[in-house]
Amino acid sequence: MEAVEASSGSDLFFWAGLVTAAYFVLRFLYHVVNGVRLWVVGDPKAVGPHLGTWAVVTGATDGIGKAYTEELAQRGMKVVLISRSQEKMDQVASEIRERFKVETKTILADFEDREAVYDKIKEGLEGLEIGILVNNVGASYSYPQYFLELPDLDKTVDKLININVLSVCKMTRLVLPRMLERSKGVIVNMSSFAGYNPIPFITLYSATKAFVDFFSRGLNAEYRKQGVIVQSVQPYLVKTKMTKIRKQSLFVPTPETFVKYALNTVGLESQTSGYPSHSLMAWFSRTLPKWYRMKLLVDNCLKARARNLKKQKEN
Ligand SMILES: NC(=O)c1ccc[n+]([C@@H]2O[C@H](COP(=O)([O-])OP(=O)(O)OC[C@H]3O[C@@H](n4cnc5c(N)ncnc54)[C@H](OP(=O)(O)O)[C@@H]3O)[C@@H](O)[C@H]2O)c1
Repeated sequence: MEAVEASSGSDLFFWAGLVTAAYFVLRFLYHVVNGVRLWVVGDPKAVGPHLGTWAVVTGATDGIGKAYTEELAQRGMKVVLISRSQEKMDQVASEIRERFKVETKTILADFEDREAVYDKIKEGLEGLEIGILVNNVGASYSYPQYFLELPDLDKTVDKLININVLSVCKMTRLVLPRMLERSKGVIVNMSSFAGYNPIPFITLYSATKAFVDFFSRGLNAEYRKQGVIVQSVQPYLVKTKMTKIRKQSLFVPTPETFVKYALNTVGLESQTSGYPSHSLMAWFSRTLPKWYRMKLLVDNCLKARARNLKKQKEN
């Protein structure tokens, strides 16, 4: 009797072990197949003039926004650049016309302004068949700081909310109705890895990016069936003016490389890191216990803060 019980007990362990092992193997295979689907195959045809002839990009004169503008022009779309420096927009627009032989339009707008800016943009977009809107414009801290340390705190709060949050809602409000009438369109919203996990010492920026992610995923669920895709893009570091990183690496792509990958995930992922090594980092970071992830972030951000304060003293 005891021998029978012992053998059924070890059978149970055997089957439990087998099922657990099979679960992990299947999960691993799923990640590999999904990785190939996203980063090797992708869907280069999801975004192009078939959605509508015009692409609209906010913050289009530098970094990731400029790279989206160029990539969309390369795909044959006419582009509307919206930024705060007419001189820089004219320069980028003229390069685009020369390189990609597409029409361009510029709208001068400073998203820090809350009021007048959207009437002007509405007027500028009047009558255009817009296939894709890239809500890219964003502002952050100049270096990690305690919330109460931020210079001109009230103004900084308004600035980050106007640029990072309000612009996304207002631009979407301007463009979405026409996309719905045509039952097609894509809205790409630049969130950040900082929108997934609160990043202390850039807390306000991080919270605005969490808003962008929630807004995007909620809207995607509302409108996907009516033909409009809303994508939340959550990159780690990209070599741009904002990050002040000068050298690209496996984990810090140029904006051009980043956008080539990110744009191919439209229609495949509604929330994406946008880049293979960033996706790996996101996966790894999510496997860490929350308290440990937060400890690493606090330690690293405090170190960056100290380095910046030291540099300021030296200058
Ligand atoms: N770079 C990263 O590692 C990273 C990571 C995660 C998420 N993101 C997000 O990706 C987006 C783009 O970042 P980026 O690194 O490419 O930034 P960036 O290099 O600083 O470029 C920002 C662009 O926005 C424009 N801009 C800034 N403030 C503006 C305003 N008030 N009104 C109108 N235009 C304005 C800039 O114009 P000027 O040329 O006139 O300054 C520039 O064209 C942001 O939303 C950012 O939060 C970036």
